[in-house]
Amino acid sequence: MGDRLIIKGGHRLEGKIEVSGAKNACLPLMAASILSSEPVELERVPDISDVRIMVKILEGMGVTVEYDRQGHMFIDSTTLNNTRAPEDLVVRMNASFDVMGPLLARHGCGEVSLPGGCKLGPRPVNLHIDAFKAMGAEVIKEGGFVKAKTPRLKGTRILFPKVSVGATKNSMMAATLAEGVTTLENCAREPEIIDLAKFLVSMGAKIEGIGTQTLRIEGVSKLHGTKYAVVSDRIEAGTYLLAGAITEGDIFLEKIDLNIIETFVLQLRQAGQEVIEENGGLRVIGHRPIKPLEISTAPYPGFPTDLHPPMAALLSLCEGISIIDETIFDGRYMYVMELGRLGADILVNGRTARICGVPKFIGAPVDAPDIRAGGALVLAGLAAEGETTIRGVRYIDRGYQHIEERLRSLGADIVRVTEPLTPLP
Ligand code: UD1
Repeated sequence: MGDRLIIKGGHRLEGKIEVSGAKNACLPLMAASILSSEPVELERVPDISDVRIMVKILEGMGVTVEYDRQGHMFIDSTTLNNTRAPEDLVVRMNASFDVMGPLLARHGCGEVSLPGGCKLGPRPVNLHIDAFKAMGAEVIKEGGFVKAKTPRLKGTRILFPKVSVGATKNSMMAATLAEGVTTLENCAREPEIIDLAKFLVSMGAKIEGIGTQTLRIEGVSKLHGTKYAVVSDRIEAGTYLLAGAITEGDIFLEKIDLNIIETFVLQLRQAGQEVIEENGGLRVIGHRPIKPLEISTAPYPGFPTDLHPPMAALLSLCEGISIIDETIFDGRYMYVMELGRLGADILVNGRTARICGVPKFIGAPVDAPDIRAGGALVLAGLAAEGETTIRGVRYIDRGYQHIEERLRSLGADIVRVTEPLTPLP
């Protein structure tokens, strides 16, 4: 059955917490570490299960990884002796495919299980593969694996037909050690991509245009070791800002720059919530009424798809009708039925959700179907009257570090119940 979170709602959250290092930056940084034969040290590594999966993938390749709960990680890939990433780990996390670019660039070959799909819908990697091919790699799909090889990648011009975070990351990593100049156009510009680019530069990579849609990467013959602190997690930060708003609380988030989460904050303010920039962080003061919004998700700097479900939890309590248009992932609406168990009134038509505000949530047993839907259910549980039990906590643990400890430190009544798995009769 796995862990459950039990929340007794209705407590106003108050206090301060430090935002964790970003999952979506940390995973590619870990993958990129194998671009160098020298050790890499990372700081602000979040203690989440996706990081532990990436550790296992790297260890399976012979890489030495040491890390602690305080967020220090040491990666030494001098011992890398296997360029195949095992299927059982890759299928658990799409970001595992991040190792392909680095493997190909430094070792001239890589075999990574095809990520397939997840609950958000199919997760194709065609744009990654097309980019590797354009750089001269031979790429085939065989036995459920993507197999790629080349004596050395060659710089070229790549125009992405669609903005993709994953394809931009993988191509950028691959290009750092390619022969000549690679120009990547129509790139994703997420803060996590900027963080990866800065990390690569700290290893000696030559990248111009960081933070823009066009990256110019001049390949170098080798990259050196580095020490680097992971950028703050804007999705975790957004979720805690919503926790302050939905509980009419007052929370100060340390270590988060407004500029990496500004589109979301503008919407939160428009919903009648107070967000103040203070001492290198953000303070949220929750207010009623919650005003309705019309939102459309989009690649950065647009409204992040990962904050769609948590925002939908807040908007379920708005005065009026809110609209959310999801443009990135068809399967994002997994949260709708579960929030409905708590009393939310949401109707989905195609890629658009119509959220009719209700006066309150009432606690109920629910299932977290994915990470961010899990975040939405936690938020709703914090605001609900009575007790909410959330199953599927393993999804929440993929992206939210020590969630119950952190919420308890802000005054929430939340406990984790760990139950041993009972064998089926
Ligand atoms: C990353 C984030 C995820 C976030 C998403 C969008 C990580 C680990 N995950 O996912 O949390 O929600 O960005 O901000 O960083 N696509 C293709 N072909 C490809 C690649 C993608 O068609 O080769 C499509 C996808 O199906 C999706 C869209 O492009 O519809 C965007 O995907 P992408 O930006 O690549 O997201 P991820 O890197 O998978």
